[in-house]
Amino acid sequence: MQKTIKNVLTCPVWVLQLFTGAKSFRDNPLIGSRRLNEAGLHGLRQGLAHWAAGWRRRRLRRAIPPHLAAEFDRDGFVVIRDFLPAATFGQVLDDVRRYRGAGRETIQGDTVTRRIALTPDSLDRMPGVRRLLDGTLLGRLIRLAGSRDCEPLYYIQTILPHAVTGEGDPQLQLHADTFHPTVKAWFTLTDTAEGSGPFVYVPGSHKLNPARQAWEKRMSLAAGPSGDRLSGRGSFRVDEAAIAGMGYPPPRAVAVPANSLIVADTGGFHARGVSADPGIRVEIWAYERGNPFFAPLIDIWRIPALGRRRGAFVWALHDWLEASGFGVHVWRKRSDVGAFDGEVAGHGAVGIPPGLSTRFGQVTSRMIRRFARR
Ligand SMILES: [Fe+2]
Repeated sequence: MQKTIKNVLTCPVWVLQLFTGAKSFRDNPLIGSRRLNEAGLHGLRQGLAHWAAGWRRRRLRRAIPPHLAAEFDRDGFVVIRDFLPAATFGQVLDDVRRYRGAGRETIQGDTVTRRIALTPDSLDRMPGVRRLLDGTLLGRLIRLAGSRDCEPLYYIQTILPHAVTGEGDPQLQLHADTFHPTVKAWFTLTDTAEGSGPFVYVPGSHKLNPARQAWEKRMSLAAGPSGDRLSGRGSFRVDEAAIAGMGYPPPRAVAVPANSLIVADTGGFHARGVSADPGIRVEIWAYERGNPFFAPLIDIWRIPALGRRRGAFVWALHDWLEASGFGVHVWRKRSDVGAFDGEVAGHGAVGIPPGLSTRFGQVTSRMIRRFARR
Protein backbone atom coordinates (compact mmCIF):
# COMPACT_ATOMS: atom_id res chain seq x y z
CA MET A 1 0.00 0.00 0.00
CA GLN A 2 2.79 2.40 1.02
CA LYS A 3 4.61 1.54 -2.19
CA THR A 4 1.50 2.27 -4.25
CA ILE A 5 1.12 5.70 -2.61
CA LYS A 6 4.79 6.48 -3.25
CA ASN A 7 4.45 5.46 -6.88
CA VAL A 8 1.38 7.65 -7.36
CA LEU A 9 3.27 10.58 -5.83
CA THR A 10 6.32 10.13 -8.04
CA CYS A 11 4.47 9.27 -11.24
CA PRO A 12 4.20 12.91 -12.41
CA VAL A 13 7.98 13.20 -12.11
CA TRP A 14 8.49 10.07 -14.21
CA VAL A 15 6.12 11.45 -16.86
CA LEU A 16 7.81 14.86 -16.93
CA GLN A 17 11.21 13.19 -17.27
CA LEU A 18 10.10 11.69 -20.58
CA PHE A 19 10.36 15.23 -21.99
CA THR A 20 13.90 15.77 -20.73
CA GLY A 21 17.26 14.12 -21.26
CA ALA A 22 16.52 11.60 -18.48
CA LYS A 23 17.95 8.32 -19.69
CA SER A 24 18.11 5.79 -16.87
CA PHE A 25 16.23 2.58 -17.53
CA ARG A 26 16.64 1.73 -13.86
CA ASP A 27 15.52 4.89 -12.09
CA ASN A 28 12.43 5.72 -14.13
CA PRO A 29 9.94 2.83 -14.57
CA LEU A 30 8.40 4.49 -17.64
CA ILE A 31 11.75 4.87 -19.45
CA GLY A 32 12.60 1.31 -18.36
CA SER A 33 9.14 -0.15 -19.09
CA ARG A 34 9.39 -3.27 -21.23
CA ARG A 35 5.85 -2.82 -22.48
CA LEU A 36 6.34 0.85 -23.44
CA ASN A 37 9.68 0.14 -25.13
CA GLU A 38 8.20 -2.77 -27.05
CA ALA A 39 5.63 -0.23 -28.25
CA GLY A 40 8.49 2.07 -29.30
CA LEU A 41 8.94 4.63 -26.48
CA HIS A 42 12.74 4.64 -26.59
CA GLY A 43 12.78 4.80 -30.39
CA LEU A 44 10.27 7.65 -30.36
CA ARG A 45 12.28 9.72 -27.85
CA GLN A 46 15.48 9.06 -29.77
CA GLY A 47 13.95 9.85 -33.17
CA LEU A 48 12.39 13.11 -31.92
CA ALA A 49 15.65 14.18 -30.23
CA HIS A 50 17.65 13.58 -33.41
CA TRP A 51 15.09 15.45 -35.48
CA ALA A 52 15.10 18.41 -33.07
CA ALA A 53 18.92 18.50 -33.00
CA GLY A 54 19.02 18.47 -36.81
CA TRP A 55 16.59 21.38 -36.91
CA ARG A 56 18.63 23.44 -34.41
CA ARG A 57 21.89 22.60 -36.16
CA ARG A 58 20.69 24.01 -39.49
CA ARG A 59 20.97 27.50 -38.03
CA LEU A 60 24.16 26.87 -36.02
CA ARG A 61 26.09 25.43 -38.97
CA ARG A 62 25.90 28.72 -40.91
CA ALA A 63 28.71 30.13 -38.74
CA ILE A 64 31.08 27.21 -39.45
CA PRO A 65 33.56 26.94 -42.36
CA PRO A 66 31.83 24.60 -44.86
CA HIS A 67 34.60 21.96 -44.89
CA LEU A 68 34.39 21.58 -41.09
CA ALA A 69 30.60 21.43 -41.12
CA ALA A 70 30.79 18.73 -43.83
CA GLU A 71 33.37 16.77 -41.80
CA PHE A 72 31.14 16.91 -38.75
CA ASP A 73 28.04 15.87 -40.72
CA ARG A 74 29.89 12.90 -42.20
CA ASP A 75 31.86 11.63 -39.19
CA GLY A 76 30.19 13.02 -36.07
CA PHE A 77 33.44 14.68 -34.99
CA VAL A 78 36.03 17.14 -36.26
CA VAL A 79 39.77 17.21 -35.65
CA ILE A 80 41.88 20.34 -36.15
CA ARG A 81 45.63 19.97 -35.63
CA ASP A 82 47.73 23.10 -34.92
CA PHE A 83 44.57 24.84 -33.79
CA LEU A 84 46.43 27.85 -32.36
CA PRO A 85 49.53 29.64 -33.69
CA ALA A 86 52.59 28.22 -31.87
CA ALA A 87 53.21 31.36 -29.76
CA THR A 88 49.56 31.57 -28.67
CA PHE A 89 49.55 27.89 -27.77
CA GLY A 90 52.74 28.46 -25.76
CA GLN A 91 50.94 31.04 -23.64
CA VAL A 92 47.96 28.73 -23.03
CA LEU A 93 50.32 25.96 -21.92
CA ASP A 94 52.27 28.34 -19.72
CA ASP A 95 49.05 29.60 -18.07
CA VAL A 96 47.92 26.06 -17.28
CA ARG A 97 51.34 24.94 -16.00
CA ARG A 98 51.52 27.90 -13.61
CA TYR A 99 47.95 27.81 -12.31
CA ARG A 100 47.25 26.34 -8.87
CA GLY A 101 43.90 26.47 -7.18
CA ALA A 102 40.80 24.53 -6.23
CA GLY A 103 39.98 21.47 -8.31
CA ARG A 104 38.11 18.21 -8.15
CA GLU A 105 39.08 14.58 -8.61
CA THR A 106 37.17 11.40 -9.20
CA ILE A 107 38.12 7.78 -9.80
CA GLN A 108 36.76 5.43 -12.45
CA GLY A 109 38.31 1.98 -12.34
CA ASP A 110 42.04 2.57 -11.96
CA THR A 111 41.96 6.00 -13.62
CA VAL A 112 41.83 9.38 -11.91
CA THR A 113 40.23 12.37 -13.61
CA ARG A 114 40.96 15.86 -12.28
CA ARG A 115 39.08 18.99 -13.30
CA ILE A 116 39.68 22.66 -12.63
CA ALA A 117 36.68 24.81 -13.55
CA LEU A 118 37.37 27.66 -15.96
CA THR A 119 35.42 30.43 -14.27
CA PRO A 120 35.81 34.22 -14.72
CA ASP A 121 37.98 34.19 -11.56
CA SER A 122 40.35 31.41 -12.66
CA LEU A 123 40.50 32.89 -16.17
CA ASP A 124 41.69 36.20 -14.68
CA ARG A 125 44.88 34.31 -13.87
CA MET A 126 45.02 32.60 -17.29
CA PRO A 127 44.70 35.29 -19.97
CA GLY A 128 45.91 32.97 -22.73
CA VAL A 129 43.24 30.41 -21.87
CA ARG A 130 40.62 33.16 -21.78
CA ARG A 131 41.59 34.21 -25.32
CA LEU A 132 41.23 30.56 -26.42
CA LEU A 133 37.69 30.37 -25.00
CA ASP A 134 36.78 33.77 -26.45
CA GLY A 135 37.87 32.68 -29.93
CA THR A 136 34.84 32.18 -32.11
CA LEU A 137 35.58 28.89 -33.89
CA LEU A 138 35.93 26.79 -30.72
CA GLY A 139 32.60 27.95 -29.30
CA ARG A 140 30.81 27.67 -32.62
CA LEU A 141 31.93 24.08 -33.23
CA ILE A 142 30.84 23.09 -29.72
CA ARG A 143 27.46 24.75 -30.25
CA LEU A 144 26.99 22.93 -33.56
CA ALA A 145 27.89 19.51 -32.15
CA GLY A 146 25.76 20.02 -29.04
CA SER A 147 22.95 21.63 -31.08
CA ARG A 148 22.57 24.28 -28.41
CA ASP A 149 23.45 27.95 -28.66
CA CYS A 150 24.91 28.59 -25.20
CA GLU A 151 28.22 28.77 -23.39
CA PRO A 152 29.44 25.22 -22.68
CA LEU A 153 31.06 24.12 -19.42
CA TYR A 154 34.83 24.53 -19.70
CA TYR A 155 37.43 22.85 -17.48
CA ILE A 156 41.11 22.02 -17.45
CA GLN A 157 40.99 18.22 -17.37
CA THR A 158 43.76 15.83 -16.38
CA ILE A 159 43.54 12.08 -17.05
CA LEU A 160 45.86 9.85 -15.03
CA PRO A 161 45.50 6.21 -16.17
CA HIS A 162 46.58 3.41 -13.81
CA ALA A 163 47.04 6.00 -11.04
CA VAL A 164 45.21 3.96 -8.39
CA THR A 165 44.29 0.34 -7.79
CA GLY A 166 40.99 -0.70 -9.31
CA GLU A 167 39.31 -2.54 -12.11
CA GLY A 168 39.50 -1.37 -15.72
CA ASP A 169 38.42 2.15 -16.63
CA PRO A 170 34.77 1.90 -17.84
CA GLN A 171 35.43 4.66 -20.38
CA LEU A 172 37.59 2.21 -22.35
CA GLN A 173 34.53 0.37 -23.60
CA LEU A 174 32.82 1.76 -26.68
CA HIS A 175 29.55 3.45 -25.78
CA ALA A 176 27.12 6.25 -26.56
CA ASP A 177 26.83 8.80 -23.74
CA THR A 178 23.08 9.01 -24.10
CA PHE A 179 20.20 8.52 -26.57
CA HIS A 180 20.47 11.94 -28.20
CA PRO A 181 23.07 14.23 -29.82
CA THR A 182 25.36 15.82 -27.23
CA VAL A 183 28.86 17.30 -27.23
CA LYS A 184 32.28 16.94 -25.65
CA ALA A 185 35.43 18.71 -26.84
CA TRP A 186 39.12 18.35 -26.10
CA PHE A 187 41.83 20.91 -26.78
CA THR A 188 45.01 18.95 -26.14
CA LEU A 189 47.85 20.33 -24.02
CA THR A 190 49.86 17.10 -24.18
CA ASP A 191 50.58 14.72 -27.07
CA THR A 192 48.32 11.67 -27.28
CA ALA A 193 49.91 8.68 -28.97
CA GLU A 194 48.07 5.54 -30.17
CA GLY A 195 48.97 3.65 -27.00
CA SER A 196 48.35 6.41 -24.48
CA GLY A 197 44.60 6.79 -24.30
CA PRO A 198 43.61 8.52 -27.54
CA PHE A 199 40.03 9.46 -28.34
CA VAL A 200 38.32 6.64 -30.28
CA TYR A 201 35.21 7.20 -32.39
CA VAL A 202 33.09 5.14 -34.78
CA PRO A 203 32.76 7.50 -37.77
CA GLY A 204 29.16 8.14 -38.76
CA SER A 205 27.69 6.55 -35.61
CA HIS A 206 26.09 9.87 -34.62
CA LYS A 207 23.50 9.11 -37.30
CA LEU A 208 20.65 6.66 -36.91
CA ASN A 209 19.93 3.96 -39.48
CA PRO A 210 17.41 1.08 -39.42
CA ALA A 211 19.96 -1.44 -38.07
CA ARG A 212 20.98 1.00 -35.31
CA GLN A 213 17.36 1.63 -34.43
CA ALA A 214 16.70 -2.13 -34.21
CA TRP A 215 19.76 -2.50 -31.92
CA GLU A 216 18.56 0.44 -29.79
CA LYS A 217 15.18 -1.23 -29.39
CA ARG A 218 16.80 -4.49 -28.27
CA MET A 219 18.98 -2.58 -25.81
CA SER A 220 16.01 -0.63 -24.45
CA LEU A 221 14.37 -3.96 -23.54
CA ALA A 222 17.50 -5.55 -22.09
CA ALA A 223 19.41 -2.68 -20.45
CA GLY A 224 17.31 -2.09 -17.33
CA PRO A 225 17.41 -5.61 -15.88
CA SER A 226 20.90 -6.44 -17.21
CA GLY A 227 23.99 -6.58 -15.01
CA ASP A 228 25.58 -3.84 -17.11
CA ARG A 229 25.19 -0.85 -14.76
CA LEU A 230 26.13 1.88 -17.24
CA SER A 231 23.90 0.55 -20.04
CA GLY A 232 21.11 0.32 -17.44
CA ARG A 233 21.59 4.00 -16.76
CA GLY A 234 21.12 4.77 -20.44
CA SER A 235 24.71 4.94 -21.69
CA PHE A 236 24.63 1.86 -23.89
CA ARG A 237 27.86 -0.14 -24.12
CA VAL A 238 28.53 -1.78 -27.50
CA ASP A 239 31.07 -4.20 -29.00
CA GLU A 240 32.74 -4.17 -32.40
CA ALA A 241 30.61 -7.04 -33.75
CA ALA A 242 27.43 -5.09 -33.02
CA ILE A 243 28.96 -1.97 -34.61
CA ALA A 244 29.71 -3.93 -37.79
CA GLY A 245 26.17 -5.33 -37.69
CA MET A 246 24.81 -1.77 -37.74
CA GLY A 247 26.79 -1.04 -40.90
CA TYR A 248 29.24 1.39 -39.30
CA PRO A 249 32.98 1.30 -40.06
CA PRO A 250 35.47 0.10 -37.42
CA PRO A 251 36.38 2.49 -34.57
CA ARG A 252 39.11 5.02 -35.40
CA ALA A 253 41.73 6.07 -32.84
CA VAL A 254 42.49 9.79 -33.10
CA ALA A 255 46.10 10.14 -31.94
CA VAL A 256 46.94 13.84 -32.00
CA PRO A 257 49.77 16.07 -30.85
CA ALA A 258 49.33 18.90 -28.36
CA ASN A 259 47.53 21.98 -29.76
CA SER A 260 44.82 19.89 -31.43
CA LEU A 261 41.08 20.33 -31.11
CA ILE A 262 38.59 17.46 -31.20
CA VAL A 263 34.87 18.25 -31.05
CA ALA A 264 32.52 15.25 -31.07
CA ASP A 265 28.86 14.33 -30.85
CA THR A 266 29.19 11.77 -28.07
CA GLY A 267 25.74 10.43 -28.81
CA GLY A 268 27.80 8.46 -31.37
CA PHE A 269 29.89 5.48 -30.30
CA HIS A 270 33.22 6.41 -28.76
CA ALA A 271 35.69 5.42 -26.04
CA ARG A 272 38.92 6.39 -24.39
CA GLY A 273 41.70 4.33 -25.99
CA VAL A 274 43.79 2.03 -23.83
CA SER A 275 46.82 3.45 -22.05
CA ALA A 276 49.56 0.88 -21.85
CA ASP A 277 51.35 2.67 -19.02
CA PRO A 278 50.65 5.23 -16.31
CA GLY A 279 51.00 8.74 -17.64
CA ILE A 280 49.31 12.10 -17.75
CA ARG A 281 47.04 13.68 -20.34
CA VAL A 282 46.02 17.32 -19.94
CA GLU A 283 43.48 19.22 -22.01
CA ILE A 284 40.96 22.04 -22.01
CA TRP A 285 37.74 20.06 -21.95
CA ALA A 286 34.24 21.25 -22.77
CA TYR A 287 30.83 19.73 -22.26
CA GLU A 288 27.24 20.70 -22.89
CA ARG A 289 24.01 18.74 -22.64
CA GLY A 290 20.72 20.57 -22.84
CA ASN A 291 17.13 19.38 -23.15
CA PRO A 292 17.16 17.26 -26.34
CA PHE A 293 13.62 18.20 -27.36
CA PHE A 294 13.21 21.88 -26.54
CA ALA A 295 15.49 24.91 -26.78
CA PRO A 296 14.68 27.47 -24.07
CA LEU A 297 13.26 30.77 -25.33
CA ILE A 298 15.56 32.67 -22.97
CA ASP A 299 18.83 30.91 -22.23
CA ILE A 300 20.79 32.64 -19.47
CA TRP A 301 23.77 30.36 -20.11
CA ARG A 302 24.21 32.12 -23.45
CA ILE A 303 25.73 35.03 -21.52
CA PRO A 304 29.43 34.14 -21.07
CA ALA A 305 29.70 35.88 -17.66
CA LEU A 306 26.94 33.60 -16.34
CA GLY A 307 27.67 30.53 -18.48
CA ARG A 308 31.26 30.43 -17.21
CA ARG A 309 30.06 30.27 -13.60
CA ARG A 310 27.85 27.26 -14.31
CA GLY A 311 30.52 24.58 -13.72
CA ALA A 312 31.34 25.87 -10.23
CA PHE A 313 27.62 26.34 -9.54
CA VAL A 314 26.85 22.73 -10.50
CA TRP A 315 29.61 21.44 -8.21
CA ALA A 316 28.30 23.55 -5.31
CA LEU A 317 24.74 22.32 -5.95
CA HIS A 318 25.90 18.70 -5.95
CA ASP A 319 27.86 19.28 -2.72
CA TRP A 320 24.65 20.59 -1.16
CA LEU A 321 22.64 17.63 -2.45
CA GLU A 322 25.16 15.26 -0.91
CA ALA A 323 25.14 17.17 2.38
CA SER A 324 21.32 16.92 2.33
CA GLY A 325 21.52 13.15 2.05
CA PHE A 326 20.52 12.73 -1.58
CA GLY A 327 23.46 10.65 -2.70
CA VAL A 328 27.17 10.79 -3.33
CA HIS A 329 28.93 13.57 -5.19
CA VAL A 330 31.83 11.77 -6.79
CA TRP A 331 33.76 14.94 -7.68
CA ARG A 332 35.80 15.39 -4.50
CA LYS A 333 37.42 18.71 -3.61
CA ARG A 334 41.16 19.23 -3.83
CA SER A 335 42.73 22.50 -2.84
CA ASP A 336 45.91 23.97 -4.27
CA VAL A 337 46.15 21.56 -7.15
CA GLY A 338 47.76 21.99 -10.57
CA ALA A 339 46.72 20.30 -13.81
CA PHE A 340 50.15 18.77 -14.30
CA ASP A 341 50.50 17.39 -10.75
CA GLY A 342 51.35 13.69 -10.87
CA GLU A 343 50.12 12.86 -7.35
CA VAL A 344 46.46 12.05 -6.82
CA ALA A 345 44.30 12.14 -3.69
CA GLY A 346 43.52 8.45 -4.18
CA HIS A 347 40.81 6.20 -2.80
CA GLY A 348 41.34 7.34 0.80
CA ALA A 349 40.49 10.97 0.06
CA VAL A 350 37.95 10.40 -2.70
CA GLY A 351 36.16 7.75 -0.63
CA ILE A 352 33.59 6.71 -3.21
CA PRO A 353 32.06 3.27 -2.70
CA PRO A 354 33.07 1.03 -5.63
CA GLY A 355 30.72 1.17 -8.60
CA LEU A 356 29.09 4.48 -7.74
CA SER A 357 29.07 7.40 -10.10
CA THR A 358 27.40 10.76 -9.82
CA ARG A 359 23.61 10.66 -9.67
CA PHE A 360 22.93 14.37 -9.68
CA GLY A 361 22.75 14.98 -13.40
CA GLN A 362 18.98 14.80 -13.13
CA VAL A 363 16.42 14.78 -10.36
CA THR A 364 15.55 11.13 -9.84
CA SER A 365 12.35 9.80 -8.40
CA ARG A 366 14.44 8.40 -5.53
CA MET A 367 15.53 11.93 -4.64
CA ILE A 368 11.90 13.13 -4.60
CA ARG A 369 10.94 10.27 -2.28
CA ARG A 370 13.78 11.04 0.10
CA PHE A 371 12.84 14.68 0.05
CA ALA A 372 9.18 13.80 0.79
CA ARG A 373 10.27 11.62 3.72
CA ARG A 374 12.12 14.53 5.27
FE1 LIG B 1 31.55 8.89 -23.20
